[in-house]
Amino acid sequence: MKMDGKTVLITGSTDGVGRYVAARLAAAGANVLIHGRDEARAKSLADDIRRQGHAAPTFYPADLSSLSGARQLAEAVLADHKRLDLFISNAGIGSRTLGAERRTSADGHELRFAVNYLSGFLLAYLLLPAIKASAPSRIVNVASLGQHPIDFDDVMITRGYNGGRAYSQSKLSQIMFTIDLANELKGSGVTVNSLHPATYMNTTMVREGGITPISTVEQGGEAILHLAVGDDMAGRSGLFFNGMHEAQANPQAYDPTARKRLRALSLELTGLAK
Ligand SMILES: NC(=O)c1ccc[n+]([C@@H]2O[C@H](COP(=O)([O-])OP(=O)(O)OC[C@H]3O[C@@H](n4cnc5c(N)ncnc54)[C@H](OP(=O)(O)O)[C@@H]3O)[C@@H](O)[C@H]2O)c1
Repeated sequence: MKMDGKTVLITGSTDGVGRYVAARLAAAGANVLIHGRDEARAKSLADDIRRQGHAAPTFYPADLSSLSGARQLAEAVLADHKRLDLFISNAGIGSRTLGAERRTSADGHELRFAVNYLSGFLLAYLLLPAIKASAPSRIVNVASLGQHPIDFDDVMITRGYNGGRAYSQSKLSQIMFTIDLANELKGSGVTVNSLHPATYMNTTMVREGGITPISTVEQGGEAILHLAVGDDMAGRSGLFFNGMHEAQANPQAYDPTARKRLRALSLELTGLAK
């Protein structure tokens, strides 16, 4: 993996699998832009990377539980960089992060939908000029095998809420967005794919869900890196992978009407429709 001269942004790289991917890309020579909320965790990652003799990454703090946080992140990145070779939308919360009860974002949207999906949707569009300027370039959406179809009559899950459904709806939304964006970007030199990195990696979100980990961050991280930099992925777009293998997502992902509804709703909720 040779990434000299390439600029990459990985959201949620202060912890878990994102941290692993950031360190691997830095070791390959990339100019790595790391993101999260926690200054101390960002510093510890930067120190690790520097200690290995690689260029220190730049930290862009932002809370993605508000759309203004996502906008500020995009503005800060674009102020420093006119080109972005790789955008990995990885930040996320689990089904039980902050407890089992329904929570909302600063904008009043169901929290898992907001952090895991809407912020990444907004970021991708705001960063697209820099990503297009670097074509051939790539976007990777870190989704999951946990997928629940969207009930368009209750997208914010105000009735019968449970965290597992909320998490899985947000992850299917990322996959639907991936297919849509890939269609939109045909011919631009920008590819976009999504994946389930690995099942129950040993990360904060899994541990706080009370689940016993069964995979390592290395396994999931290598699957993300495959979509991000793998030679065999050049020019391939709109796909969903389970680890290293191409896979089928929930049937709703392949329903153009559902994707169109989600897209219209997302453009409206993020203010991009104006
Ligand atoms: N773990 C698994 O087995 C598994 C399986 C399938 C898919 N995934 C997906 O893989 C991705 C990474 O998960 P992980 O397991 O590595 O999780 P993790 O260890 O809990 O790390 C989550 C990352 O997201 C950031 N983040 C969380 N909430 C945020 C917010 N409101 N604003 C900004 N950043 C925020 C965290 O930053 P802070 O340092 O600020 O907290 C952290 O860097 C997620 O999208 C997850 O859904 C994970």
